[in-house]
Amino acid sequence: MPAELVCFEERCRARFPITEVIYNCPRCGGLLEASYSFDHLDAAALKRTWRERRMCNVPLDQSGVWRYREMIPFLDDYSAVVTLREGNTPLLPAPRAAEYAGLDRLVFKHQGFNPTGSFKDNGMTCGTAQAVRLGMKRVACVSTGNTSASMAAYASAAGLQPIIFIPHGNISYGKLAQALEYGARTFQVEANFDQILALVRRLAERLGIYLLNSINPFRIEGQKSIIVEMMDQRDWDAPDWIVLPGGNLGNTSAFGKALRELHSLGLIRKMPRLAVIQAAGSAPFFDLMQRSPGATLNPVIHPETLATAIKIGDPVSWPKALHEVVSSGGCVDKVTEQEIANAKAVIGMCGIGCEPASAATLAGLRKLTAEGKVERDADVVAVLTGNVLKDPDYIYRYHTGSLDAPDGSRLQSTFGNQPVVVENDEDRIAALIS
Ligand code: F0G
Repeated sequence: MPAELVCFEERCRARFPITEVIYNCPRCGGLLEASYSFDHLDAAALKRTWRERRMCNVPLDQSGVWRYREMIPFLDDYSAVVTLREGNTPLLPAPRAAEYAGLDRLVFKHQGFNPTGSFKDNGMTCGTAQAVRLGMKRVACVSTGNTSASMAAYASAAGLQPIIFIPHGNISYGKLAQALEYGARTFQVEANFDQILALVRRLAERLGIYLLNSINPFRIEGQKSIIVEMMDQRDWDAPDWIVLPGGNLGNTSAFGKALRELHSLGLIRKMPRLAVIQAAGSAPFFDLMQRSPGATLNPVIHPETLATAIKIGDPVSWPKALHEVVSSGGCVDKVTEQEIANAKAVIGMCGIGCEPASAATLAGLRKLTAEGKVERDADVVAVLTGNVLKDPDYIYRYHTGSLDAPDGSRLQSTFGNQPVVVENDEDRIAALIS
């Protein structure tokens, strides 16, 4: 069976050619996903092939996404692929963070080690390849910062024109700077993420621009590799829990799809549970999970959080994410600004560091273990989605006691680390050190 696009809605399941430029089902408006037959694949042979490719100098094999290309066979040939050697991100044990979370052990999979500093690169190499294959010249996205940084880099590397829309004043300078440096046409729009997404979808259609938001099913395919690589690094021993932050919920959808496919292929024996953590001021998915089965998502009209990456009130991928969390036996929780800030500092003290949205994972885990939902001896991998340098302003404010929550209240710098201003006086500095 060739690769196809299939409507995610159970009652529709309409199928379309893989080269059709559509982002939602033309029949029912549902989300789309790429679908393949994996019947001819053999688990043992795949494991061997993927290990051998790690030692190879061919760019495609060096990529932590395309190395696993049997899991994402949507291209006819690989000449359209641009790789910046995305993926290849480490599993980092963090005993101090484990203790903070109330766990015996905790491992972070740090997607901030990617070329543009976030997990978006795993998906963007695939989305860009599809854009080139379709003969597109321009690509666009709305972003809370990381998608735009990633899209700018991959589109420019592929010779496409990146066009970026961001909520004015609501993304970190690190991310905005990346978009500018990588040559994107950048529009700072006076609206929030959800409003701009609606605008960009209309503009993309009107001007024939390829849309690279996470509604794009090929980006989701690429993000599956985060899980495939994680399992490869763990010698195919699945953890009990995988914890990740939730914004637009593309990553949750990708993780669930990857786990289902790996399981059906016999590459993993058990299905880990997915725990999705949202910021309390932007937590429509958490609210949805509290309501009865069959409920639909109520958007948060004015989402708020300093973790700007996940400041999203109307996540497009919620039907997929809901299916994945429920079928994995997982859960959704929400954490406060103070909890995120402290968890982030703890991850920093492990010598690891991450951006604010990523720290929601540790903050959430601390809650889940306290509530008994995650057992102390559980085998847990938390995914850190963005690099520590994405938002240095937040870090400086936290450590100097000047970080204010969106409601204006001052956050406590529980683990603050004030820099000391001192005159050029050796004795005085020696005294301060001792
Ligand atoms: N963590 C970081 C660092 C992110 O940048 C994002 C999303 C998420 C978590 C949430 O992932 O949307 O798949 O649930 N950032 C998007 C962006 C929205 O535009 O960069 P999600």
